[in-house]
Amino acid sequence: IIKSIILAGGSGTRLWPLSREKYPKQFLKLNEKSLFQDTVSRCLEISDINEIYVVTNESQKFFVIGQIEELGYEIPKENILLEPVAKNTLPAITYGMHLIKKRFGNDFVGIFSSDHILDKSAMQTIKNAEALASEYLLTFGIVPTSPHTGYGYIKPADPIGMAFKVLEFKEKPDIYDAKKYIKEGFLWNSGMFLFETTVFFEELEKYAPDISTAFRNYETIEEIYEKIPYISIDYGIIEKSSKVAVIKLAERWSDLGNFSALYNEFDKDENNNVIHNCEEEIINSYGNLIHSKTGKIVSLIDVNDMIVVDTMDALLICPKSSSQKVKDVASSLKDKN
Ligand code: GDD
Ligand code: MG
Repeated sequence: IIKSIILAGGSGTRLWPLSREKYPKQFLKLNEKSLFQDTVSRCLEISDINEIYVVTNESQKFFVIGQIEELGYEIPKENILLEPVAKNTLPAITYGMHLIKKRFGNDFVGIFSSDHILDKSAMQTIKNAEALASEYLLTFGIVPTSPHTGYGYIKPADPIGMAFKVLEFKEKPDIYDAKKYIKEGFLWNSGMFLFETTVFFEELEKYAPDISTAFRNYETIEEIYEKIPYISIDYGIIEKSSKVAVIKLAERWSDLGNFSALYNEFDKDENNNVIHNCEEEIINSYGNLIHSKTGKIVSLIDVNDMIVVDTMDALLICPKSSSQKVKDVASSLKDKN
């Protein structure tokens, strides 16, 4: 049996104004279900609801509980871990692993981001990898389709069972290196991991001793979080450890990191427009994404490849190719407030 930790504390600023600081993208209902709900459903393939842990924060707690209830499940209250501040994924994962180790001793734990799309069948592969996790920190690799600079790149080396040993892991390379890595057969890091608690804490002690010491020496999560740095698992451990292995996933995977990715994911009409939630009047316009939460009629004339997102208090218009810059709006708005 594998336990699951779901990371649901990120803010997803690249989908502003749909996602907000207090309403991050994993809880947005772009289809019937949110990405968070899809993640929970996937975890239920390998874990019982009582074995699923969600690391989040006070302001997102009600989304977590409510959206799990909508799926027809009740998650034990003590499985929802609230961080006092967001310190990126290494502290969040350690928080969950620490609790599981305290409650159950040694155990196998899958770590799941809640911000991407993935076919359920991948969970069987993850389940089958359990035995390898007592020796390796397991990552799951996706064959890249573009030199995206927002991902981790993994170079598979010698095969070990269903996995490959990893000699090189590079988090968020520049475009030049990303192109080179793709030529050299690197895989994208999917943002999911399978760890055994013992191996995880050994590697944490080696590469992030400040975090492991804080969890050992302090009682309350507030004290612990005050002492530890802001760092992701990728930079903090996976890039450095010599115990990393990767398993290739063949499933469809997509990180809905920005509006351009959303556009690619959704059904298009005969003019290649993606139109969500609104009445439209579109003339000679192709390849646009239009999303409205206001009930207004949206009209486009002679424009191509644009993003138009209308909400009650904010309107975004930008070319699809500038999707990655939307996070700058969100962060400069945050600075002003
Ligand atoms: N609880 C909590 N606290 N969750 C967090 C925090 C935090 O401080 N920061 C991020 N998360 C959650 C996010 O909500 C998301 O579900 C997941 O952890 C991953 O964080 P991202 O911030 O989205 O990471 P990334 O996309 O830049 O990079 C990671 O994912 C890529 C694939 O999508 C890395 O693992 C890359 O190597 C990987 O390629
Ligand atoms: Mg992400």
